Amino acid sequence: MPERSTPAKRYERLEDRIRALIAQGVYPAGKKIPSVRRMGAQEGVSVTTVLEAYSRLEAAGLLEVRPQSGYYVRATNGAGFATPRTTQPAAEARPVTRSDFISRLFHDANDQSLVQFGAAVVHPSMMPLKALSRLMTRISRETPEAASGYDFPPGHLPLREIIARRAAACGCTFSPDDVLTTFGCSEALTVCLRAVTAPGDLVAVESPTYYKYLELFEWLQLRVLELPTSPDTGIAVEAVEDAVRHRGAKALVVVPNFSNPLGALMPDAKKAALAQLASEYDFPLVEDDIYGDLASGGLRPKPIKAFDTTSHVMLCASFSKTLPPGYRVGWAVPGRYHARVLHLKRAMTSAAAGTLPQMVLAEFARSGAYDRHLRTLRRQLGDLRAQHARTISDVFPPGTRLTRPKGGHLLWVEFPPGFDAVALHARALAHHISIAPGPMFTLSGDYGNCVRLNVGHPWDARVEHALEVLGRLAGEGG
Ligand SMILES: Cc1ncc(COP(=O)(O)O)c(C=O)c1O
Repeated sequence: MPERSTPAKRYERLEDRIRALIAQGVYPAGKKIPSVRRMGAQEGVSVTTVLEAYSRLEAAGLLEVRPQSGYYVRATNGAGFATPRTTQPAAEARPVTRSDFISRLFHDANDQSLVQFGAAVVHPSMMPLKALSRLMTRISRETPEAASGYDFPPGHLPLREIIARRAAACGCTFSPDDVLTTFGCSEALTVCLRAVTAPGDLVAVESPTYYKYLELFEWLQLRVLELPTSPDTGIAVEAVEDAVRHRGAKALVVVPNFSNPLGALMPDAKKAALAQLASEYDFPLVEDDIYGDLASGGLRPKPIKAFDTTSHVMLCASFSKTLPPGYRVGWAVPGRYHARVLHLKRAMTSAAAGTLPQMVLAEFARSGAYDRHLRTLRRQLGDLRAQHARTISDVFPPGTRLTRPKGGHLLWVEFPPGFDAVALHARALAHHISIAPGPMFTLSGDYGNCVRLNVGHPWDARVEHALEVLGRLAGEGG
């Protein structure tokens, strides 16, 4: 992986500068640093730039906010870590071939003896299990026939109504008739992609990308082009344009909100630009918005679908990251490709999704319980990301880089070049710790020095100890 170029953004430059000042002891541990306004005046930058730099340093565990007082340098023995660089995968189309790590990770996900930094799963203790099982009992008692019959595509109407209403609240305009419910987001992605591609087609994705996409592409006999991606703002729009204009890419698959594994959040302008490209070059843009409901603070980010005026965006999502994934309730809004997707979906699985789970989740959302649950879950996951990041910056070796997503439950760690994340994976397993090594998320051979960590489990001594062990193993080179 190439060395990091000079940080392009003002807040990145300021962040690096403050980092250096802390490292040099100009801003000593435990001491207050200049207020946002003073720092802005001192460095000749806006208040917004200072706030962004401070919040990144806070997420990295370098600064802490003391209410009514200001920002302080945390007493930490780690130097705090910079954000990983924008990726630069080799621009080559490749056939897809590997899935060994995926099998291993899925196998390990069910092993309760492991600390689960590996699979991207939110711990059941953070799920409203009791409320959902009460609803399940009530619905199957009150409407036993409806709850146990087939629910044919396009799926349970009250659920599709709720999906359309919730999407309207974040800028989308589609009707319940435009929605198909599916068995999880995975099935939504599968039918959408299958409907708009043929074997041999080239599909563009973020790099690194969700490893299950790579498996899906392999199964659909697609070729994949991995594109440069910023850990902050996602895929490079100009690279997407080049992929469709000059390299023959037939479709794009992206996760705009808290991507997997980088946790990137695309700004609205980028989302609008991608929707515009799909329209201009007439290609299907498969959007996976599975993490969108997990934003910390502020508004729920818009999907790209909100900027889609020509119905080229195929929106896919599910409740698998916010409610128990075993319910397997997802959906697709395939836009202009709707008829093909519906046909395929019917041919593949007959039923839309499990009838009772759809009824339960529709009622859970309709009653307002889902929004209440989300408020708690977002806060919990925000705290967990911060807690893990703080500990990582204390116990991982110098030179480590770490993402600071504003939502979701995944962190991406980049160790110095030459580090062996695959070896770290094996050694960590011997200590009962599961992690996802970087090479899972690419076919390029890159990211051998990276790992993805799931932080969706309650913080406790076992988790803290596991991070310390990982830090020690990483310090030994993997
Ligand atoms: C980006 C992304 N899409 C899809 C999925 C799978 O979703 P589901 O379990 O609803 O099929 C995951 C799960 O980790 C994911 O991270």
